[in-house]
Amino acid sequence: MTDQVLLARDPALDANWWRQATVYQIYPRSFADSNGDGIGDLPGVTSRIGYLADLGVDAVWLSPFYPSALADGGYDVDDYRDVAPELGTLADFDALVAAAHAVGIRVIVDIVPNHTSDRHPWFAEALASSPGSAARDRYIFRDGTGPDGSLPPSDWLSHFGGPAWTRLPDGQWYCHLFARQQPDLNWDNPEVREDFKTTLRFWADRGVDGYRVDVAHALAKDLSEPLRSKPTLYDSLGTDGNDPLFDRDEVHEIYAEWRDVFNSYDPPRTAVAEAFARPERRALYARPTGLGQAFNFDLLKADFDAAQFRDVITFCLAQAARVGSSSTWVLSNHDVVRHTSRYALPTDVDLDEWLLSDGALPLPDEIAGLRRARAATLLMLALPGSSYLYQGEELGLHEVSDLPVSALQDPIWQRTLNTKKGRDGCRVPLPWTGEGDSYGFGSGPSWLPQPAGFSAYAVTAQAGQPESTLELYREALRLRRQLQGAEELEWVSTDNPEVLHFVRPGGWHCVTNFGTESVLLPEGVVRVSSVPLTDSRLPGECTVWLTEWPQD
Ligand code: BGC
Repeated sequence: MTDQVLLARDPALDANWWRQATVYQIYPRSFADSNGDGIGDLPGVTSRIGYLADLGVDAVWLSPFYPSALADGGYDVDDYRDVAPELGTLADFDALVAAAHAVGIRVIVDIVPNHTSDRHPWFAEALASSPGSAARDRYIFRDGTGPDGSLPPSDWLSHFGGPAWTRLPDGQWYCHLFARQQPDLNWDNPEVREDFKTTLRFWADRGVDGYRVDVAHALAKDLSEPLRSKPTLYDSLGTDGNDPLFDRDEVHEIYAEWRDVFNSYDPPRTAVAEAFARPERRALYARPTGLGQAFNFDLLKADFDAAQFRDVITFCLAQAARVGSSSTWVLSNHDVVRHTSRYALPTDVDLDEWLLSDGALPLPDEIAGLRRARAATLLMLALPGSSYLYQGEELGLHEVSDLPVSALQDPIWQRTLNTKKGRDGCRVPLPWTGEGDSYGFGSGPSWLPQPAGFSAYAVTAQAGQPESTLELYREALRLRRQLQGAEELEWVSTDNPEVLHFVRPGGWHCVTNFGTESVLLPEGVVRVSSVPLTDSRLPGECTVWLTEWPQD
Protein backbone atom coordinates (compact mmCIF):
# COMPACT_ATOMS: atom_id res chain seq x y z
CA MET A 1 0.00 0.00 0.00
CA THR A 2 2.68 2.48 0.99
CA ASP A 3 4.54 1.74 -2.25
CA GLN A 4 1.43 2.49 -4.29
CA VAL A 5 0.77 5.84 -2.68
CA LEU A 6 4.42 6.85 -3.13
CA LEU A 7 4.27 5.81 -6.77
CA ALA A 8 1.32 8.09 -7.34
CA ARG A 9 3.21 11.04 -5.90
CA ASP A 10 6.37 10.68 -7.97
CA PRO A 11 5.82 12.77 -11.13
CA ALA A 12 8.34 10.85 -13.22
CA LEU A 13 6.80 7.49 -12.40
CA ASP A 14 3.38 9.01 -12.58
CA ALA A 15 3.44 9.54 -16.32
CA ASN A 16 4.79 6.04 -16.94
CA TRP A 17 2.70 4.12 -14.45
CA TRP A 18 1.05 2.09 -17.21
CA ARG A 19 4.26 0.63 -18.65
CA GLN A 20 4.53 -2.23 -16.17
CA ALA A 21 1.18 -2.08 -14.47
CA THR A 22 -1.06 -4.89 -13.33
CA VAL A 23 -4.51 -3.97 -14.57
CA TYR A 24 -7.53 -5.79 -13.18
CA GLN A 25 -10.53 -5.99 -15.50
CA ILE A 26 -13.90 -5.56 -13.82
CA TYR A 27 -17.06 -6.63 -15.59
CA PRO A 28 -19.26 -4.41 -13.40
CA ARG A 29 -22.49 -6.40 -13.65
CA SER A 30 -20.71 -9.47 -12.31
CA PHE A 31 -18.35 -8.10 -9.69
CA ALA A 32 -20.35 -7.05 -6.59
CA ASP A 33 -24.02 -6.17 -6.13
CA SER A 34 -24.54 -3.53 -3.42
CA ASN A 35 -28.34 -3.33 -3.47
CA GLY A 36 -29.54 -6.91 -3.86
CA ASP A 37 -31.09 -6.54 -7.32
CA GLY A 38 -28.89 -9.33 -8.69
CA ILE A 39 -26.78 -6.99 -10.82
CA GLY A 40 -23.31 -5.84 -9.89
CA ASP A 41 -22.96 -2.06 -9.64
CA LEU A 42 -20.52 0.79 -9.09
CA PRO A 43 -21.06 1.09 -5.31
CA GLY A 44 -20.34 -2.66 -5.27
CA VAL A 45 -16.97 -2.00 -6.90
CA THR A 46 -16.25 0.83 -4.45
CA SER A 47 -17.04 -1.47 -1.54
CA ARG A 48 -14.32 -3.87 -2.78
CA ILE A 49 -11.52 -1.36 -3.35
CA GLY A 50 -9.88 -2.63 -0.16
CA TYR A 51 -9.87 -6.14 -1.63
CA LEU A 52 -8.23 -4.85 -4.82
CA ALA A 53 -5.63 -2.91 -2.83
CA ASP A 54 -4.81 -6.05 -0.83
CA LEU A 55 -4.57 -7.99 -4.06
CA GLY A 56 -1.98 -5.45 -5.18
CA VAL A 57 -3.26 -4.28 -8.56
CA ASP A 58 -2.15 -0.94 -10.01
CA ALA A 59 -5.30 -0.13 -11.96
CA VAL A 60 -8.81 -1.31 -12.68
CA TRP A 61 -10.35 -1.36 -16.11
CA LEU A 62 -14.13 -1.09 -15.98
CA SER A 63 -15.98 -2.75 -18.84
CA PRO A 64 -18.90 -0.56 -19.99
CA PHE A 65 -21.17 0.72 -17.21
CA TYR A 66 -23.08 3.13 -19.46
CA PRO A 67 -26.85 3.11 -20.08
CA SER A 68 -27.54 0.18 -22.37
CA ALA A 69 -30.28 -2.29 -23.29
CA LEU A 70 -27.61 -5.02 -22.98
CA ALA A 71 -27.99 -6.35 -26.49
CA ASP A 72 -24.23 -7.01 -26.20
CA GLY A 73 -23.47 -6.96 -22.49
CA GLY A 74 -23.11 -3.17 -22.36
CA TYR A 75 -21.02 -2.79 -25.54
CA ASP A 76 -24.19 -1.29 -27.04
CA VAL A 77 -24.00 2.18 -25.51
CA ASP A 78 -27.00 4.54 -25.31
CA ASP A 79 -25.12 7.43 -23.73
CA TYR A 80 -21.33 7.61 -23.47
CA ARG A 81 -21.39 10.21 -20.73
CA ASP A 82 -23.61 8.66 -18.10
CA VAL A 83 -23.98 5.62 -15.84
CA ALA A 84 -26.64 2.94 -16.34
CA PRO A 85 -29.28 3.56 -13.65
CA GLU A 86 -29.13 -0.05 -12.48
CA LEU A 87 -25.38 0.37 -11.93
CA GLY A 88 -25.46 3.71 -10.14
CA THR A 89 -25.02 7.39 -10.87
CA LEU A 90 -22.24 9.74 -11.91
CA ALA A 91 -21.84 10.57 -8.21
CA ASP A 92 -21.25 6.84 -7.57
CA PHE A 93 -18.66 6.86 -10.32
CA ASP A 94 -16.89 9.84 -8.73
CA ALA A 95 -16.92 8.06 -5.38
CA LEU A 96 -15.39 4.97 -6.99
CA VAL A 97 -12.58 7.01 -8.57
CA ALA A 98 -11.91 8.82 -5.30
CA ALA A 99 -11.77 5.55 -3.35
CA ALA A 100 -9.46 3.95 -5.91
CA HIS A 101 -7.14 6.94 -6.09
CA ALA A 102 -6.97 7.16 -2.31
CA VAL A 103 -5.18 3.81 -2.31
CA GLY A 104 -3.10 4.44 -5.44
CA ILE A 105 -5.27 2.45 -7.89
CA ARG A 106 -5.81 4.03 -11.31
CA VAL A 107 -9.09 3.81 -13.21
CA ILE A 108 -9.45 2.90 -16.88
CA VAL A 109 -12.80 3.12 -18.68
CA ASP A 110 -13.92 1.31 -21.80
CA ILE A 111 -14.60 3.47 -24.87
CA VAL A 112 -16.76 1.89 -27.58
CA PRO A 113 -16.28 4.03 -30.70
CA ASN A 114 -17.07 1.65 -33.57
CA HIS A 115 -20.81 1.59 -32.91
CA THR A 116 -23.45 3.09 -30.67
CA SER A 117 -26.56 1.26 -29.54
CA ASP A 118 -29.73 1.52 -31.57
CA ARG A 119 -31.21 3.50 -28.63
CA HIS A 120 -28.61 6.26 -28.90
CA PRO A 121 -30.30 9.63 -29.69
CA TRP A 122 -28.26 9.86 -32.90
CA PHE A 123 -29.66 6.59 -34.19
CA ALA A 124 -33.20 7.55 -33.24
CA GLU A 125 -32.69 10.79 -35.15
CA ALA A 126 -31.28 8.90 -38.13
CA LEU A 127 -34.31 6.59 -38.24
CA ALA A 128 -36.64 9.57 -38.12
CA SER A 129 -34.73 11.33 -40.92
CA SER A 130 -34.79 10.68 -44.62
CA PRO A 131 -32.17 8.85 -46.68
CA GLY A 132 -29.27 11.15 -47.51
CA SER A 133 -29.87 13.34 -44.42
CA ALA A 134 -27.12 14.65 -42.15
CA ALA A 135 -28.52 12.49 -39.34
CA ARG A 136 -28.05 9.32 -41.40
CA ASP A 137 -24.54 10.37 -42.36
CA ARG A 138 -23.36 9.77 -38.78
CA TYR A 139 -23.91 6.05 -39.49
CA ILE A 140 -23.46 3.83 -42.52
CA PHE A 141 -26.76 3.78 -44.39
CA ARG A 142 -27.01 2.50 -47.96
CA ASP A 143 -29.60 1.46 -50.50
CA GLY A 144 -29.82 -2.26 -51.10
CA THR A 145 -28.72 -4.13 -54.20
CA GLY A 146 -30.68 -6.34 -56.57
CA PRO A 147 -33.53 -5.17 -58.82
CA ASP A 148 -35.70 -4.02 -55.90
CA GLY A 149 -32.95 -3.23 -53.37
CA SER A 150 -33.91 -6.23 -51.28
CA LEU A 151 -30.36 -7.58 -51.10
CA PRO A 152 -27.79 -6.14 -48.66
CA PRO A 153 -25.49 -3.40 -49.98
CA SER A 154 -22.42 -5.66 -49.63
CA ASP A 155 -21.38 -9.11 -48.47
CA TRP A 156 -19.97 -7.85 -45.14
CA LEU A 157 -20.52 -10.15 -42.16
CA SER A 158 -21.41 -9.60 -38.52
CA HIS A 159 -18.97 -10.95 -35.93
CA PHE A 160 -21.93 -12.47 -34.16
CA GLY A 161 -23.15 -14.36 -37.22
CA GLY A 162 -25.25 -13.44 -40.26
CA PRO A 163 -24.97 -10.38 -42.49
CA ALA A 164 -23.64 -7.03 -41.23
CA TRP A 165 -26.69 -5.21 -42.67
CA THR A 166 -30.27 -4.76 -41.48
CA ARG A 167 -33.05 -3.30 -43.62
CA LEU A 168 -35.42 -0.59 -42.45
CA PRO A 169 -39.08 -0.25 -43.43
CA ASP A 170 -38.14 2.67 -45.73
CA GLY A 171 -35.96 0.30 -47.75
CA GLN A 172 -32.50 1.52 -46.68
CA TRP A 173 -30.02 -0.72 -44.90
CA TYR A 174 -27.62 0.12 -42.08
CA CYS A 175 -24.31 -1.52 -41.30
CA HIS A 176 -23.54 -3.28 -38.00
CA LEU A 177 -20.39 -5.34 -37.66
CA PHE A 178 -21.78 -6.75 -34.40
CA ALA A 179 -25.45 -7.15 -33.32
CA ARG A 180 -28.19 -5.33 -35.23
CA GLN A 181 -28.65 -3.19 -32.08
CA GLN A 182 -25.07 -1.88 -32.60
CA PRO A 183 -25.13 0.37 -35.69
CA ASP A 184 -21.61 1.26 -36.92
CA LEU A 185 -20.65 4.91 -36.86
CA ASN A 186 -19.28 6.73 -39.88
CA TRP A 187 -15.87 7.96 -38.77
CA ASP A 188 -15.54 10.09 -41.92
CA ASN A 189 -18.13 12.36 -40.30
CA PRO A 190 -16.46 15.27 -38.43
CA GLU A 191 -19.25 15.47 -35.86
CA VAL A 192 -18.62 11.85 -34.84
CA ARG A 193 -14.93 12.61 -34.41
CA GLU A 194 -15.53 15.69 -32.31
CA ASP A 195 -18.12 14.03 -30.12
CA PHE A 196 -15.78 11.22 -29.08
CA LYS A 197 -13.13 13.73 -28.08
CA THR A 198 -15.76 15.35 -25.89
CA THR A 199 -16.42 11.94 -24.32
CA LEU A 200 -12.70 11.39 -23.67
CA ARG A 201 -12.47 14.78 -21.96
CA PHE A 202 -15.65 14.14 -19.99
CA TRP A 203 -14.10 11.12 -18.27
CA ALA A 204 -10.61 12.60 -17.98
CA ASP A 205 -12.12 15.61 -16.23
CA ARG A 206 -13.73 13.21 -13.76
CA GLY A 207 -10.30 11.82 -12.92
CA VAL A 208 -10.12 8.80 -15.21
CA ASP A 209 -6.51 7.76 -15.87
CA GLY A 210 -6.88 5.85 -19.11
CA TYR A 211 -9.08 4.17 -21.70
CA ARG A 212 -9.46 0.73 -23.18
CA VAL A 213 -10.49 1.24 -26.81
CA ASP A 214 -12.97 -1.32 -28.09
CA VAL A 215 -12.56 -2.69 -31.64
CA ALA A 216 -9.89 -0.06 -32.26
CA HIS A 217 -9.00 -1.49 -35.68
CA ALA A 218 -12.44 -1.05 -37.30
CA LEU A 219 -13.27 2.65 -37.12
CA ALA A 220 -11.83 3.69 -40.48
CA LYS A 221 -13.60 1.91 -43.33
CA ASP A 222 -13.40 2.23 -47.07
CA LEU A 223 -16.91 3.55 -47.74
CA SER A 224 -16.26 4.56 -51.34
CA GLU A 225 -18.81 3.31 -53.89
CA PRO A 226 -19.28 0.61 -54.90
CA LEU A 227 -18.62 -0.92 -51.48
CA ARG A 228 -15.85 -3.47 -51.73
CA SER A 229 -16.52 -7.16 -51.29
CA LYS A 230 -15.27 -8.81 -48.08
CA PRO A 231 -16.89 -12.20 -47.67
CA THR A 232 -14.81 -13.23 -44.64
CA LEU A 233 -14.09 -11.41 -41.42
CA TYR A 234 -10.36 -11.79 -40.82
CA ASP A 235 -9.10 -14.58 -43.08
CA SER A 236 -8.16 -12.24 -45.87
CA LEU A 237 -6.80 -9.41 -43.71
CA GLY A 238 -3.53 -8.25 -45.20
CA THR A 239 -0.66 -6.10 -44.06
CA ASP A 240 -1.01 -3.26 -46.55
CA GLY A 241 -3.44 -1.17 -44.49
CA ASN A 242 -6.00 -1.27 -47.30
CA ASP A 243 -8.59 -3.78 -46.15
CA PRO A 244 -12.12 -2.40 -46.68
CA LEU A 245 -13.01 -2.78 -43.01
CA PHE A 246 -10.13 -3.45 -40.68
CA ASP A 247 -6.79 -2.00 -39.71
CA ARG A 248 -6.74 0.68 -42.37
CA ASP A 249 -3.88 3.14 -42.24
CA GLU A 250 -6.26 6.10 -41.77
CA VAL A 251 -7.43 4.78 -38.42
CA HIS A 252 -4.22 6.15 -36.91
CA GLU A 253 -5.22 9.71 -37.85
CA ILE A 254 -8.08 9.34 -35.38
CA TYR A 255 -5.75 8.17 -32.61
CA ALA A 256 -3.27 10.98 -33.29
CA GLU A 257 -6.12 13.40 -32.54
CA TRP A 258 -6.97 11.43 -29.40
CA ARG A 259 -3.33 11.60 -28.33
CA ASP A 260 -3.54 15.39 -28.36
CA VAL A 261 -6.47 15.09 -25.97
CA PHE A 262 -4.59 12.63 -23.72
CA ASN A 263 -1.52 14.85 -23.64
CA SER A 264 -3.51 17.92 -22.70
CA TYR A 265 -3.81 16.37 -19.20
CA ASP A 266 -1.16 16.06 -16.53
CA PRO A 267 -0.24 13.28 -16.29
CA PRO A 268 -1.20 12.36 -19.85
CA ARG A 269 -4.06 9.91 -20.03
CA THR A 270 -3.21 6.44 -21.30
CA ALA A 271 -4.95 4.07 -23.66
CA VAL A 272 -4.79 0.46 -24.76
CA ALA A 273 -6.14 -0.69 -28.11
CA GLU A 274 -8.15 -3.81 -28.66
CA ALA A 275 -6.95 -4.20 -32.22
CA PHE A 276 -7.29 -7.32 -34.31
CA ALA A 277 -4.66 -6.70 -36.93
CA ARG A 278 -1.90 -8.81 -38.38
CA PRO A 279 0.62 -9.24 -35.53
CA GLU A 280 3.28 -7.11 -37.19
CA ARG A 281 0.86 -4.17 -37.51
CA ARG A 282 -0.52 -4.27 -33.97
CA ALA A 283 2.35 -2.17 -32.64
CA LEU A 284 1.23 0.74 -34.83
CA TYR A 285 -1.63 1.27 -32.37
CA ALA A 286 0.86 1.31 -29.50
CA ARG A 287 2.96 4.18 -30.80
CA PRO A 288 3.46 7.06 -28.36
CA THR A 289 1.80 9.29 -30.98
CA GLY A 290 -1.23 6.97 -30.96
CA LEU A 291 -2.96 5.03 -28.23
CA GLY A 292 0.32 4.10 -26.53
CA GLN A 293 -0.37 0.44 -25.87
CA ALA A 294 -2.15 -2.45 -27.62
CA PHE A 295 -3.41 -5.77 -26.35
CA ASN A 296 -1.46 -8.85 -27.35
CA PHE A 297 -3.83 -11.78 -27.29
CA ASP A 298 -1.15 -14.27 -28.33
CA LEU A 299 -0.67 -15.81 -24.88
CA LEU A 300 -4.42 -16.11 -24.55
CA LYS A 301 -4.41 -18.16 -27.72
CA ALA A 302 -1.25 -20.17 -27.04
CA ASP A 303 -1.32 -23.70 -25.70
CA PHE A 304 0.40 -24.43 -22.41
CA ASP A 305 3.58 -25.10 -24.31
CA ALA A 306 7.14 -23.85 -23.76
CA ALA A 307 8.00 -23.21 -27.40
CA GLN A 308 4.76 -21.31 -28.06
CA PHE A 309 5.21 -19.17 -24.94
CA ARG A 310 8.80 -18.37 -25.78
CA ASP A 311 7.96 -17.38 -29.36
CA VAL A 312 5.09 -15.16 -28.23
CA ILE A 313 7.17 -13.45 -25.55
CA THR A 314 10.11 -12.80 -27.84
CA PHE A 315 7.88 -11.48 -30.61
CA CYS A 316 5.72 -9.23 -28.42
CA LEU A 317 8.68 -7.69 -26.60
CA ALA A 318 10.39 -6.91 -29.90
CA GLN A 319 7.23 -5.38 -31.35
CA ALA A 320 6.66 -3.15 -28.33
CA ALA A 321 10.30 -2.05 -28.31
CA ARG A 322 10.07 -1.19 -32.02
CA VAL A 323 7.62 1.63 -31.26
CA GLY A 324 8.81 2.59 -27.77
CA SER A 325 5.83 1.04 -25.99
CA SER A 326 5.71 -1.70 -23.38
CA SER A 327 4.19 -5.08 -24.09
CA THR A 328 0.84 -6.28 -22.75
CA TRP A 329 -0.07 -9.78 -21.62
CA VAL A 330 -3.49 -11.34 -21.21
CA LEU A 331 -4.61 -14.88 -20.39
CA SER A 332 -8.35 -14.31 -19.85
CA ASN A 333 -10.98 -11.65 -20.42
CA HIS A 334 -14.75 -11.25 -20.74
CA ASP A 335 -14.80 -12.56 -24.32
CA VAL A 336 -13.06 -15.92 -23.98
CA VAL A 337 -13.19 -19.22 -22.10
CA ARG A 338 -11.31 -18.80 -18.82
CA HIS A 339 -7.75 -20.04 -19.06
CA THR A 340 -8.14 -22.56 -16.22
CA SER A 341 -10.73 -24.36 -18.35
CA ARG A 342 -8.86 -23.95 -21.60
CA TYR A 343 -5.79 -25.59 -20.06
CA ALA A 344 -7.98 -28.37 -18.65
CA LEU A 345 -8.89 -29.57 -22.14
CA PRO A 346 -6.90 -31.27 -24.90
CA THR A 347 -5.34 -28.62 -27.15
CA ASP A 348 -7.28 -29.67 -30.25
CA VAL A 349 -10.71 -29.17 -28.68
CA ASP A 350 -13.01 -26.68 -30.39
CA LEU A 351 -14.12 -24.56 -27.43
CA ASP A 352 -17.46 -23.63 -29.02
CA GLU A 353 -18.31 -27.29 -29.50
CA TRP A 354 -17.19 -28.07 -25.97
CA LEU A 355 -19.53 -25.37 -24.63
CA LEU A 356 -22.38 -26.76 -26.73
CA SER A 357 -21.92 -30.08 -24.93
CA ASP A 358 -22.31 -28.17 -21.62
CA GLY A 359 -18.66 -28.80 -20.91
CA ALA A 360 -19.08 -32.58 -20.96
CA LEU A 361 -17.30 -33.59 -24.15
CA PRO A 362 -14.53 -33.94 -23.32
CA LEU A 363 -14.66 -33.65 -19.54
CA PRO A 364 -12.10 -31.07 -18.43
CA ASP A 365 -9.32 -32.10 -16.07
CA GLU A 366 -9.89 -29.16 -13.71
CA ILE A 367 -7.02 -30.01 -11.39
CA ALA A 368 -4.53 -29.98 -14.25
CA GLY A 369 -6.17 -26.85 -15.69
CA LEU A 370 -5.75 -24.90 -12.48
CA ARG A 371 -2.20 -26.11 -12.00
CA ARG A 372 -1.23 -24.98 -15.51
CA ALA A 373 -3.12 -21.70 -15.12
CA ARG A 374 -1.19 -20.90 -11.94
CA ALA A 375 2.10 -21.66 -13.67
CA ALA A 376 1.21 -19.59 -16.74
CA THR A 377 0.04 -16.65 -14.63
CA LEU A 378 3.18 -16.63 -12.53
CA LEU A 379 5.26 -16.64 -15.69
CA MET A 380 3.19 -13.81 -17.17
CA LEU A 381 3.55 -11.70 -14.04
CA ALA A 382 7.33 -11.93 -14.24
CA LEU A 383 7.46 -10.49 -17.75
CA PRO A 384 8.34 -6.89 -18.52
CA GLY A 385 5.24 -4.93 -19.54
CA SER A 386 1.66 -4.77 -18.30
CA SER A 387 -0.41 -7.74 -17.24
CA TYR A 388 -4.17 -7.56 -17.65
CA LEU A 389 -6.02 -9.81 -15.21
CA TYR A 390 -9.69 -10.70 -15.54
CA GLN A 391 -11.85 -10.66 -12.42
CA GLY A 392 -12.08 -14.04 -10.75
CA GLU A 393 -8.91 -15.49 -12.25
CA GLU A 394 -7.23 -14.74 -8.92
CA LEU A 395 -9.73 -17.19 -7.42
CA GLY A 396 -8.90 -19.84 -10.02
CA LEU A 397 -12.45 -19.68 -11.38
CA HIS A 398 -13.21 -21.97 -14.28
CA GLU A 399 -15.62 -21.37 -17.15
CA VAL A 400 -19.24 -22.07 -16.22
CA SER A 401 -19.85 -24.30 -19.21
CA ASP A 402 -23.28 -25.68 -18.33
CA LEU A 403 -25.38 -22.53 -18.09
CA PRO A 404 -28.93 -23.44 -19.12
CA VAL A 405 -29.74 -21.99 -22.52
CA SER A 406 -32.65 -20.12 -20.95
CA ALA A 407 -30.08 -18.09 -18.97
CA LEU A 408 -27.87 -17.15 -21.93
CA GLN A 409 -27.65 -13.42 -22.65
CA ASP A 410 -24.91 -13.23 -25.28
CA PRO A 411 -26.26 -12.26 -28.74
CA ILE A 412 -23.93 -14.86 -30.21
CA TRP A 413 -26.37 -17.59 -29.12
CA GLN A 414 -29.25 -16.24 -31.19
CA ARG A 415 -27.31 -14.80 -34.10
CA THR A 416 -25.56 -18.10 -34.74
CA LEU A 417 -28.97 -19.86 -34.67
CA ASN A 418 -28.05 -21.63 -31.45
CA THR A 419 -24.81 -23.13 -32.74
CA LYS A 420 -22.51 -21.15 -30.39
CA LYS A 421 -23.33 -20.53 -26.74
CA GLY A 422 -21.14 -17.44 -26.51
CA ARG A 423 -19.39 -15.72 -23.64
CA ASP A 424 -21.71 -15.84 -20.64
CA GLY A 425 -19.74 -18.65 -18.98
CA CYS A 426 -16.84 -16.35 -18.09
CA ARG A 427 -19.18 -13.57 -16.92
CA VAL A 428 -20.84 -15.42 -14.05
CA PRO A 429 -20.81 -13.25 -10.89
CA LEU A 430 -17.96 -13.72 -8.44
CA PRO A 431 -18.28 -15.76 -5.23
CA TRP A 432 -17.17 -13.67 -2.27
CA THR A 433 -18.36 -15.93 0.54
CA GLY A 434 -19.37 -19.58 0.83
CA GLU A 435 -23.00 -18.86 1.72
CA GLY A 436 -26.04 -16.92 0.62
CA ASP A 437 -28.14 -16.83 -2.52
CA SER A 438 -25.23 -15.60 -4.61
CA TYR A 439 -22.20 -16.42 -2.45
CA GLY A 440 -21.80 -12.87 -1.18
CA PHE A 441 -22.04 -11.29 -4.64
CA GLY A 442 -25.27 -9.67 -3.42
CA SER A 443 -28.05 -10.40 -1.01
CA GLY A 444 -30.22 -12.22 -3.55
CA PRO A 445 -29.74 -14.48 -6.59
CA SER A 446 -27.40 -13.19 -9.29
CA TRP A 447 -28.36 -12.28 -12.87
CA LEU A 448 -26.49 -15.33 -14.22
CA PRO A 449 -26.76 -18.50 -12.13
CA GLN A 450 -23.63 -19.54 -10.24
CA PRO A 451 -22.77 -23.23 -9.95
CA ALA A 452 -22.94 -24.90 -6.54
CA GLY A 453 -19.20 -25.60 -6.62
CA PHE A 454 -18.43 -21.86 -6.61
CA SER A 455 -18.42 -21.75 -2.81
CA ALA A 456 -15.09 -23.57 -2.76
CA TYR A 457 -13.58 -20.72 -4.79
CA ALA A 458 -14.99 -17.91 -2.64
CA VAL A 459 -12.68 -15.18 -1.41
CA THR A 460 -13.41 -16.11 2.21
CA ALA A 461 -12.52 -19.74 1.48
CA GLN A 462 -9.10 -18.74 0.12
CA ALA A 463 -7.99 -15.67 2.05
CA GLY A 464 -5.21 -16.56 4.46
CA GLN A 465 -4.78 -20.06 3.00
CA PRO A 466 -1.15 -20.04 1.88
CA GLU A 467 -1.65 -22.55 -0.92
CA SER A 468 -4.76 -20.93 -2.38
CA THR A 469 -4.78 -19.28 -5.77
CA LEU A 470 -5.82 -15.97 -4.20
CA GLU A 471 -2.76 -15.97 -1.94
CA LEU A 472 -0.53 -16.92 -4.87
CA TYR A 473 -1.73 -13.85 -6.78
CA ARG A 474 -1.33 -11.62 -3.73
CA GLU A 475 2.20 -12.80 -3.12
CA ALA A 476 3.18 -12.55 -6.79
CA LEU A 477 1.77 -9.03 -7.11
CA ARG A 478 3.58 -7.97 -3.93
CA LEU A 479 6.90 -9.30 -5.20
CA ARG A 480 6.29 -7.99 -8.71
CA ARG A 481 6.81 -4.46 -7.46
CA GLN A 482 10.40 -5.39 -6.70
CA LEU A 483 11.20 -6.83 -10.11
CA GLN A 484 9.95 -3.90 -12.13
CA GLY A 485 13.32 -2.54 -13.12
CA ALA A 486 14.30 -2.07 -16.73
CA GLU A 487 11.86 -3.56 -19.22
CA GLU A 488 14.21 -6.33 -20.19
CA LEU A 489 14.63 -10.03 -19.90
CA GLU A 490 17.40 -12.38 -20.86
CA TRP A 491 16.75 -15.99 -21.71
CA VAL A 492 18.84 -18.55 -19.83
CA SER A 493 19.48 -21.79 -21.67
CA THR A 494 18.01 -24.86 -19.97
CA ASP A 495 18.98 -27.84 -22.16
CA ASN A 496 15.36 -28.93 -21.81
CA PRO A 497 12.82 -27.86 -24.43
CA GLU A 498 10.02 -28.03 -21.84
CA VAL A 499 11.66 -25.60 -19.43
CA LEU A 500 11.76 -21.81 -19.93
CA HIS A 501 14.10 -19.74 -17.82
CA PHE A 502 14.65 -15.99 -17.99
CA VAL A 503 16.28 -13.43 -15.77
CA ARG A 504 15.17 -9.83 -15.16
CA PRO A 505 17.47 -6.99 -14.14
CA GLY A 506 18.23 -7.21 -10.42
CA GLY A 507 18.77 -10.95 -10.61
CA TRP A 508 15.15 -12.08 -10.57
CA HIS A 509 14.81 -15.47 -12.26
CA CYS A 510 11.60 -17.01 -13.51
CA VAL A 511 11.63 -20.71 -14.40
CA THR A 512 8.66 -22.62 -15.79
CA ASN A 513 8.54 -26.35 -16.27
CA PHE A 514 5.89 -27.01 -18.93
CA GLY A 515 6.57 -30.75 -18.83
CA THR A 516 5.05 -33.21 -16.37
CA GLU A 517 8.33 -34.62 -14.95
CA SER A 518 10.18 -32.68 -12.27
CA VAL A 519 13.55 -31.15 -13.10
CA LEU A 520 16.42 -29.86 -11.00
CA LEU A 521 15.72 -26.40 -9.59
CA PRO A 522 18.32 -23.79 -10.52
CA GLU A 523 20.25 -22.28 -7.64
CA GLY A 524 18.87 -19.30 -5.78
CA VAL A 525 16.42 -18.20 -3.13
CA VAL A 526 12.88 -19.31 -3.99
CA ARG A 527 10.55 -16.31 -3.65
CA VAL A 528 7.28 -17.76 -4.86
CA SER A 529 6.18 -20.96 -6.52
CA SER A 530 2.94 -21.96 -8.27
CA VAL A 531 3.11 -25.43 -6.67
CA PRO A 532 4.48 -25.99 -3.15
CA LEU A 533 8.08 -27.23 -3.38
CA THR A 534 9.06 -30.20 -1.29
CA ASP A 535 12.70 -30.60 -2.28
CA SER A 536 15.27 -29.08 -4.61
CA ARG A 537 13.31 -30.06 -7.69
CA LEU A 538 10.96 -28.01 -9.83
CA PRO A 539 7.75 -30.04 -10.21
CA GLY A 540 6.03 -30.50 -13.55
CA GLU A 541 3.71 -27.72 -14.74
CA CYS A 542 5.09 -25.25 -12.24
CA THR A 543 6.70 -21.80 -12.22
CA VAL A 544 9.07 -20.44 -9.59
CA TRP A 545 10.62 -17.05 -9.06
CA LEU A 546 14.11 -17.06 -7.58
CA THR A 547 16.58 -14.40 -6.65
CA GLU A 548 20.30 -14.93 -6.72
CA TRP A 549 22.10 -15.79 -3.48
CA PRO A 550 23.31 -12.63 -1.75
CA GLN A 551 26.94 -11.86 -2.72
CA ASP A 552 29.48 -11.63 0.13
C1 BGC B 1 -15.65 -6.48 -26.78
C2 BGC B 1 -16.80 -7.43 -26.89
C3 BGC B 1 -17.90 -6.77 -27.70
C4 BGC B 1 -17.39 -6.24 -29.04
C5 BGC B 1 -18.34 -5.28 -29.67
C6 BGC B 1 -15.26 -6.35 -28.23
O1 BGC B 1 -14.22 -6.78 -28.74
O2 BGC B 1 -14.59 -6.92 -25.99
O3 BGC B 1 -17.25 -7.85 -25.64
O4 BGC B 1 -18.89 -7.72 -27.94
O5 BGC B 1 -16.18 -5.57 -28.89
O6 BGC B 1 -18.34 -4.08 -28.97
